[in-house]
Amino acid sequence: MLGVGVVGAGRMGAMHARNVAKKVPDARLVAVADTSEEAAKRLAAECGAANVFTDYLRLVENREVQAVVIATPTALKPQIVKFACEAGKHVFCEEPVATTLQDAQQVVKSTQRSPAKFQVGYQRRFDPLHLEVKGALDSGDLGSVVMLRSNTRDPLPNPAQWPDLKASGGIFFDTCTHDYDVVRWLCGSEVSRVEAEGAPRSQPDQHTAITNLYLANGVVAQVDASRMSSYGYDVRVEVLGTKGAVFTSPARPGGVRLLKGPQEAPRAYSWYEDRFEEAYLLEMRSFVECALKDQEPRAAALDGKAAVEVAAAARKSMLEGKAVNLPL
Ligand SMILES: NC(=O)c1ccc[n+]([C@@H]2O[C@H](COP(=O)([O-])OP(=O)(O)OC[C@H]3O[C@@H](n4cnc5c(N)ncnc54)[C@H](O)[C@@H]3O)[C@@H](O)[C@H]2O)c1
Repeated sequence: MLGVGVVGAGRMGAMHARNVAKKVPDARLVAVADTSEEAAKRLAAECGAANVFTDYLRLVENREVQAVVIATPTALKPQIVKFACEAGKHVFCEEPVATTLQDAQQVVKSTQRSPAKFQVGYQRRFDPLHLEVKGALDSGDLGSVVMLRSNTRDPLPNPAQWPDLKASGGIFFDTCTHDYDVVRWLCGSEVSRVEAEGAPRSQPDQHTAITNLYLANGVVAQVDASRMSSYGYDVRVEVLGTKGAVFTSPARPGGVRLLKGPQEAPRAYSWYEDRFEEAYLLEMRSFVECALKDQEPRAAALDGKAAVEVAAAARKSMLEGKAVNLPL
């Protein structure tokens, strides 16, 4: 049984806490920390966690806490990862791992100094639809990959939900890194060059962004992201191979559709909680299993760093108006 402490009792932290407390048989929620004592107390009471802290250091030090789930604003994560790794705790860190490449490198260093497990919250690697796409690729049925595209479109912004640029890193970091990770994961290759554009360029953060990616194995990919989707939450991936294509549907019931097949009338997801409900649970079960059985997590610190590096390159490309080569 793994004792888990959750840092950050907001939207994601609450979801992970509920999963750990109610749906992950080999784990128990022992502590919650949030600078808002009220939020931490409420979540701890709901999930039966005995310990409540306003200082995450106290949670990290707590003897009952063997694993730390980090669901705070991104800029804080590298420091929390460092303390948790130094204390020898397993870490599940929400994506992205950092808002700068330097900080992401620091995260990798912290994890390399610790024998404990580290998993980044790229839940699409656990999403049954994305796994079906990966399976189709790995089976060879689609031939070799020619082109890949992935998108994340968030519902029209509610000002309270618009992420703060300093804390989140902006759209290339807090949104597109999911898609950059999908591109790397499905292609099995690193990104070697990016060209990006965002709108509006005049604003500190963009509500919409497009990234063209060139991979070391010759595949080209495109990622689009927007916070302006009028029809709900829409995450899709599409792969064109030499022998066919496969893509996921934005509608539910979800399913992987081949290009030849008929389309169903779209019934959009409202947001990530319902689109990825199963994936969030599967990633947490997998993290707990990796910690207890000494296995390597499917989304490692280096994957977290790689996605942040692509985001940093994409933002640089947008700001400078030219292609950027990687590694930076
Ligand atoms: N994997 C996904 O699909 C997904 C989706 C949304 C958000 N996220 C990530 O999850 C993280 C959390 O996002 P959210 O939407 O839950 O944000 P949120 O604003 O709802 O929650 C963040 C919480 O962290 C708390 N906090 C701030 N500083 C703290 C500190 N020093 N110590 C302890 N707690 C502190 C806040 O009080 C708040 O309760 C972000 O990094 C975001 O990028 C991932």
